[in-house]
Amino acid sequence: MSRRSLVVRTVAALRRAVARWREEDDTVALVPTMGAVHEGHLSLVRVAQSHARRVIVSIFVNPAQFAPNEDFAAYPRRFDVDLAALTPAGIDLVWAPPVEAMYGPGFATRIIPEGPAKVGLEDAFRPQFFAGVAIVVSKLLIQCFPDIAVFGEKDFQQLKVVTRLAADLDLPVKIVPAPTMRELDGLAMSSRNAYLSAAERAQAPTLYRVLSQCAAAIRHGEHVPRVLDEGSAEIEAAGFQLDYFEARHAETLQKVAPAADGPLRLLVAARIGRTRLIDNVAV
Ligand code: PAJ
Repeated sequence: MSRRSLVVRTVAALRRAVARWREEDDTVALVPTMGAVHEGHLSLVRVAQSHARRVIVSIFVNPAQFAPNEDFAAYPRRFDVDLAALTPAGIDLVWAPPVEAMYGPGFATRIIPEGPAKVGLEDAFRPQFFAGVAIVVSKLLIQCFPDIAVFGEKDFQQLKVVTRLAADLDLPVKIVPAPTMRELDGLAMSSRNAYLSAAERAQAPTLYRVLSQCAAAIRHGEHVPRVLDEGSAEIEAAGFQLDYFEARHAETLQKVAPAADGPLRLLVAARIGRTRLIDNVAV
């Protein structure tokens, strides 16, 4: 199959393809992405393939989840490179809608997620973000009608928001989490790593190193607030400006006191130069 023949750009063509698979009783998985495909995305494809016969990867840089001051215009768009990476991965279809297919004239519907979308982590720094994710993920799930959809733990709060959304809207899909893929030095893979200068890239693994050290210290019974204070200082010493570095309940993302109320997840967001990075680990 040629690369281009994998690509579908209208909802009608997408629905025809999925209907053909359904007639053959094939199961369907969806991996939503914004492109700039990296090994983290490809690991989601492998998880999807282990759950379903057919795998759709969506590529759509969703304007609704970017604030005006964010990097929508600069976000890496390299469709042909993405296609070259996805084709050998053995996927069945690339759903690449133009923006008018997603947000046509007169589009006037919003979904406002609460619960895990309102816990003071990403939502405190990107107030429009989860409403934008909620509407686009709802549309993608309704368009593709998959049995499962795979989301990365890399975006841990997003994973929780999407899981809640699918349950609350009775969408007949299982949200499957996938572990974070990392560079050899521990940096979580991300399309935004491309923004890092060489000097920033050299400092970037600090985030995962500190997360891992702090998780180990908490597991050994050290006082959580002190561990987080020391970790924050180390992250800032590496040249980052911290948005947050917190220990939260791994399921609800609520603040946890005492730590024994856990399971805990450590979550960090920090800026270095013009790049904002997020990461998280289990305790
Ligand atoms: P994007 O940042 O392209 O990520 C697409 C999916 O890949 C998300 O589920 C994300 O958690 C996962 N992912 C990113 N980096 C990863 C890594 N290093 N290891 C494992 N998985 C990783 O997240 C989005 O796009 C958008 O918000 C989207 C859900 C597509 C809605 O627009």
